[in-house]
Amino acid sequence: MSNQDRTTVVILGAGKGGTALLELFTRLPGVEIAGIADQDASAPALQHASQLGIPITQDLVSLISLQGINLIVNVTGDPHLDLLVAAHKHPETEVLGGSASKVLWDFVQHASQIQSQLFQTEKLAGMGTFASGIAHDINNPLYILLAFAENILEETDDPRIHEQVRSIIEAGKRIQGICQNITRYARATNTDNAIAVEVNEKLDEALNIARYATTLQDLTIVKSFGEHVEVLVNPGELFQVLVNLMTNAIQAMEGKGTLTLSTSCENGVGKISIADTGSGIPTENLEKIFDPFFTTKPLGQGTGLGLHNVKTIIKKYRGELRVESKVGKGTTFSIELPRSPK
Ligand SMILES: Nc1ncnc2c1ncn2[C@@H]1O[C@H](COP(=O)(O)OP(=O)(O)O)[C@@H](O)[C@H]1O
Ligand SMILES: [Mg+2]
Repeated sequence: MSNQDRTTVVILGAGKGGTALLELFTRLPGVEIAGIADQDASAPALQHASQLGIPITQDLVSLISLQGINLIVNVTGDPHLDLLVAAHKHPETEVLGGSASKVLWDFVQHASQIQSQLFQTEKLAGMGTFASGIAHDINNPLYILLAFAENILEETDDPRIHEQVRSIIEAGKRIQGICQNITRYARATNTDNAIAVEVNEKLDEALNIARYATTLQDLTIVKSFGEHVEVLVNPGELFQVLVNLMTNAIQAMEGKGTLTLSTSCENGVGKISIADTGSGIPTENLEKIFDPFFTTKPLGQGTGLGLHNVKTIIKKYRGELRVESKVGKGTTFSIELPRSPK
């Protein structure tokens, strides 16, 4: 990136607003923070900034009058400061103050709130699906165990063995009860039954949410939608699948690239593909990405449940899920779902 593409910014005010902007600006590749100022030396963003190696000062005027500043963002909320800024800034320096900087701050907060909601939702829904899978796996051998225990009761008259086998059966039934509760809980979080769902609409809805996976991006979205593409699923679950896949795609592009969403319908099968120009997935990971808790993302950003969840849901509706990926080029996830009951 050349110097001309970069915006050099200073932040006035190191309270909540300053903290939020600091976080936003340090994540934007095109922005350089020349410094942050607050009259209060204990303001939270000052500490944060000095840890990041960004110059901090209590002398607002010295920062305002620096050479080569493109933008001054004033989040002090102090009306007198506007005059001070106007008197000391260079003529070519632009100023974002008052309600304009408040809107920017509100936006940053809104985005980070949605981001954490998204993470929580994915985690909860993922836990439900994962737990019900385990409950199901426990139930099968348990069934065999109980059946054989009943056999032993019939085969012997020894009262001591009877007593112990009855205890085994009782304990087994308690485990069955626990498994049923887990499954019921997972159903409650995953709601209703399948209906015909308009795929294009759901893709747009999901995109609105998944965009928040990284703050402010330079993304090109290409849509190649077929007409009336319908599939038979639970709409909430399809939404979850699409949000998961798009979030991964957007995260893999680190804010820059092309996301291509395509849909079509052939022989009663609805097809969806989500393609990104991101990092790609190394061949040795292709087997593992659907495993629960497999993640390559830092703690707090990845649960490793997204794709496990996607696979479970697609399987439930007798669909197909495929992935093609090239490291450094990008990844395409394709889904096929029946349009009507088989
Ligand atoms: N579109 C993609 N591009 C590159 N890597 C991906 C993509 N989708 C998934 N992955 C890889 O698969 C892993 C598992 O994905 P997922 O189950 O959604 O968990 P999480 O996103 O929480 O890490 C990710 O950590 C990442 O390494
Ligand atoms: Mg994910």
